[in-house]
Amino acid sequence: MDKLVITGQNRLHGKVRISGAKNAAVAVIPAALLANSKVKIENLPLISDVYRYGAILRSLGAKVEFNHHKGIMEIDPKIKDPLNPPYELIKKLRASYYLLGVLLAKYGEAQVSLPGGCDIGSRPIDQHIKGFEALGAKIELEHGMIKAKASKLKGAQIYLDVVSVGATMNIMLAATLAEGQTIIENAAKEPHIVDVANFLNAMGARVKGAGTDVIKIQGVDRLKGCTHMVIPDQIEAGTYMIAAAATGGDVVIENVIPKHLDPVSAKLREAGMKIEEDGDYIRVRGVQKPKNVNIKTLPYPGFPTDLQQPITAFLSIANGTSIVTETVWESRFKHVDELKRMGANIKVEGRSAIIEGVECLSGAPVRATDLRAGAALLIAALTAEGQTEIFDVYHIDRGYQQIDAKLRNIGADIYRVNGDYLKSVAK
Ligand code: EPZ
Repeated sequence: MDKLVITGQNRLHGKVRISGAKNAAVAVIPAALLANSKVKIENLPLISDVYRYGAILRSLGAKVEFNHHKGIMEIDPKIKDPLNPPYELIKKLRASYYLLGVLLAKYGEAQVSLPGGCDIGSRPIDQHIKGFEALGAKIELEHGMIKAKASKLKGAQIYLDVVSVGATMNIMLAATLAEGQTIIENAAKEPHIVDVANFLNAMGARVKGAGTDVIKIQGVDRLKGCTHMVIPDQIEAGTYMIAAAATGGDVVIENVIPKHLDPVSAKLREAGMKIEEDGDYIRVRGVQKPKNVNIKTLPYPGFPTDLQQPITAFLSIANGTSIVTETVWESRFKHVDELKRMGANIKVEGRSAIIEGVECLSGAPVRATDLRAGAALLIAALTAEGQTEIFDVYHIDRGYQQIDAKLRNIGADIYRVNGDYLKSVAK
């Protein structure tokens, strides 16, 4: 199993290029199965979730070629057996539930294993089910599988009880081939929702309003193949912004859409950092020891829950007390115990972490408990005095392309032990 070894206190400096968005990629790849002809997806990140979804589509019989040097995946969506995505592959990928919306729309039937819980809390899909039933599907839950069936989906008006990225995506996917119009109210507005809607429209779908809380989808008879470039990953970009600020560095983060990072830029400015943005880059300078700030995670355009753990690491060395409140997930604080092993002074009370800034963290052996907790530990290690070893790196490789190489290129003293990155993510 790979581990990362970091010797802290190097100021990060230079340029880092952001890869394609994981949370767009894991919806665009299955959505390609809606088409009747070849789909080409560009700017895909080289992360394990992308390789895994390619393997799932191959197991269904689709022809998938992934040129990982260029991040281009070509999919011939003719599948032979839509009903049996292999459990072994599905269980590793939470976003496999997008196959429900896609296969239900295209083949009238779908079955996928229910997502288990994970380290940020239970992952209910009641809103996905509410949407599919509103579109006329019959849903059965048995033996850990969710089965959906409908002779023909019919458009419906669906109000989401909770703002859910997954449910918004899944209902949008299913509605593209339904009869008539579907309206999703209280929809999520994340950039990756807009990216998937643009992809669907490029295939001939008729999706309007993505990025607002009301999305209207006029069903069509068929969708054709197209070429689509995935948007940059705003969570990866935010992670590097926070790392640059935490180390007192000066880093230009390239290939981003600055607007997608507004909440992160605002909070880093509040903490005393210098942020410049223009065109497709953001420059972050950690010009002083961070000031304490309070954070409350909210659906987009609020502060993203996926950067709550990284910014908690940053605030661990701020002057004063910061309060970070996690409103999206019920238990997204598994990183706190590991940060405390590095000398952080954090108390979790309910959905809030009260962070008393310390002068400096100290390196220690720690374990990544989930993807963004791993990112938080990396940021802590980059600022810490001494050496840190991070175990269970596979969590980090799920969502960050070659993070050790990218950090090394901007001055971090970091190396990967036991593993070759591409070998570990491509299996
Ligand atoms: C997506 O998860 C992301 N994953 C998550 O990123 C991200 O944290 C989350 O959106 C919020 O932005 C992918 O896109 C693959 P939700 P998703 O449905 O869609 C509740 C990362 O680090 N809910 O928006 O599963 C749910 O419990 C990952 O990249 C229901 O109650 O999240 C949560 O409290 C982690 N019923 C809230 O809504 C449902 O049917 C938001 O969940 C669905 C969700």
